[in-house]
Amino acid sequence: MYQTLKTELSEGIYTITVNRPDKLNALNKDVINELGQALDEVYNNAEIRSAIITGEGAKAFVAGADITEFTDLDAQGGAALAQAGQDKVFSKIEQAPKPIIAAVNGFALGGGCELAMACHFRTASETARFGQPEVNLGLIPGYGGTQRLVQLIGKGKAMELLMTADMIKADEAKALGLVNYVFGAEELLPKTRELLLKIQAKAPLAVSKIIALVNEAATASDTGLSNEIKAFGECFGTEDKKEGTAAFLEKRAAVFSGK
Ligand code: COA
Repeated sequence: MYQTLKTELSEGIYTITVNRPDKLNALNKDVINELGQALDEVYNNAEIRSAIITGEGAKAFVAGADITEFTDLDAQGGAALAQAGQDKVFSKIEQAPKPIIAAVNGFALGGGCELAMACHFRTASETARFGQPEVNLGLIPGYGGTQRLVQLIGKGKAMELLMTADMIKADEAKALGLVNYVFGAEELLPKTRELLLKIQAKAPLAVSKIIALVNEAATASDTGLSNEIKAFGECFGTEDKKEGTAAFLEKRAAVFSGK
């Protein structure tokens, strides 16, 4: 049914696996569109009680937005990309009426870290790695990262991770509150399923209301998200974005000019 996802429904849990392992499950337009469709299924199919989002393969959850799609985008195109992704996927996950957990099985970088952060909470394997490396590309996060990272780990550490592009390991992510549990790789999905089965035994309407109200207490502000889209687009109009994305694709270090 899907070209870039694998989906499975069992015991009410819908497991959505991003399936581009040779590209470290990077989010291209097809993945974003299909994730949007899979989320419609979560919203509308009464047999689905909860969902897991994970990545195919041992190496990556999602290594970010697909950088090969950035080369031709100008400021307007960059802003449109961020807006479409936030509308179709990231806000839809956050506001879903059923619990959605990210089971982070490897690299969760850029849009991958943002995908995990949009979920209601996160579990990780010991091999998981988290980071927002957009600044290496002359960019900033565009799928809510500047907003949700602050909420989850606080301002100081968020500033550091966003400005340095440093990657952190699963145990540090747990210490910071970015993930709730760290499991061995083999245990990640079974243990995440156990958590969801525990939640599924509770009253579904009460669980839905908890999601909506916790979001109200701690959600990314609409202004912050729309300002992020605007700033993300502005970055796409710079020389540094051209240099940063070209350097990644040519597998060399970028030299930024501040223009
Ligand atoms: N977009 C597009 N392609 C990506 C990608 C991304 N975000 N991340 C990885 N890939 C591709 C690589 O280009 C490579 O493709 P190739 O085999 O055709 O050359 C393949 O996935 C494997 O990645 P590779 O870089 O060879 O693996 P590695 O083990 O050397 O490094 C990472 C792993 C995660 C450190 C590295 O891939 C990386 O830095 N990715 C980009 C992360 C990023 O900046 N994300 C934010 C985007 S906004």
